[in-house]
Amino acid sequence: MGGQKIVLGVTGSVAVYKSCELLRGLIKNGASCTVIMTEAAQRFVTPLTFQALGADQVITSDCNQAGTAIPHIDATRDATLLLIAPATANILAKAAQGIADDVLSAAILAARCPVAFAPAMNTYMWHNNATQRNIAQLIQDGAIFFGPANGEQACGDVGSGRMLEPSEILEMMQGALTPRLLDRCRVLITAGPTYEPIDPVRGITNLSSGKQGFAIAKAAVLAGAEVTLIAGPTTLKTPAGVRRIDVVTALDMYNAVMAEVSQHEVFISVAAVADWRVDAPSTHKIKKEFTGAPTLSFVENPDILASVAALENAPYCVGFAAETDNLIDNARAKVFRKNVPLIVANLVKDAMNQDTNAVVFVERDAATPLTRASKDAVAQALIAKIAQEVN
Ligand code: C5P
Repeated sequence: MGGQKIVLGVTGSVAVYKSCELLRGLIKNGASCTVIMTEAAQRFVTPLTFQALGADQVITSDCNQAGTAIPHIDATRDATLLLIAPATANILAKAAQGIADDVLSAAILAARCPVAFAPAMNTYMWHNNATQRNIAQLIQDGAIFFGPANGEQACGDVGSGRMLEPSEILEMMQGALTPRLLDRCRVLITAGPTYEPIDPVRGITNLSSGKQGFAIAKAAVLAGAEVTLIAGPTTLKTPAGVRRIDVVTALDMYNAVMAEVSQHEVFISVAAVADWRVDAPSTHKIKKEFTGAPTLSFVENPDILASVAALENAPYCVGFAAETDNLIDNARAKVFRKNVPLIVANLVKDAMNQDTNAVVFVERDAATPLTRASKDAVAQALIAKIAQEVN
């Protein structure tokens, strides 16, 4: 959310405490925030709370002391999004009717940026015909809705009307604000390590966490792609909107990719696929008392990326190279050996099991280094690069 200017409208609901956390999350993600509070909101928390949490300014009434600024117009002048969270039934009704009787409802009416609502109200108020009519009107007028969630309410009732959790709203905001660079493009991604068994309790794997591949899957979905993620063993959570297929061995991954690839236009091979597997793993646990140290013999696994790139109707292929030395030379050799247009090169120490990454986009005749950034930011840069190539 770096560089995004968010205006957070806060109305009077017990869910205001979630807005405080939401503001922190927005600022932590690089957004700058102006807060507009209604009178009722100020009975739950004070403007000072939002100020102390890092808001650029907190607007509470439609004229400042000098009487010069016009807060309801100025607040959203170059904003990316006006988000009302929590949004009561009352503010939805006012916004649907174009009523502008306080600074927040006036700012909604004057907004030139998209307007989003995260509703919070009693479930009977939510289901009331008047509220539902107002929501239908607002959606028709182009408003975005995040939630509400279902569950137990402050008043003891149970049902729809709870405000979403701040982390859920942040994720949905990212989706709403991300340009749809890969709209409806079908993207197949491999991620994580593979695991090659030696016997039923032992095996060979590697240090890949899967974080970079999962971040790419998330960024692709946010960019509008339909994503299939073939994941080796990892405990990472599936990003929202991603279709996930779990595999264990390199051969499983190869078979899953070959079954899926014809349905996809882009293939991003992020997985750290084991180059070799144990020839004839034991079906029984190898007992040291009987065998001593075993001698293992290996056979080579198929190269999934090279096999996909060699297909007659190959998708646009991207590979990764994790190296300890000669990063660019090794990555460029892969561009030619695997016959792919783009290899994302990273040093093992920069990438494996880290939350950040420092990568170089290596093509036949170019090498473009990116500054070290979060794996989410690297993923977004890669999606933008792929969109340039395939669109
Ligand atoms: O051959 P190497 O492992 O160095 O190349 C790394 C790239 O090739 C990665 O994109 C990885 O996902 C892919 N790869 C593969 N199948 C293998 C080995 C690597 O798809 N058996």
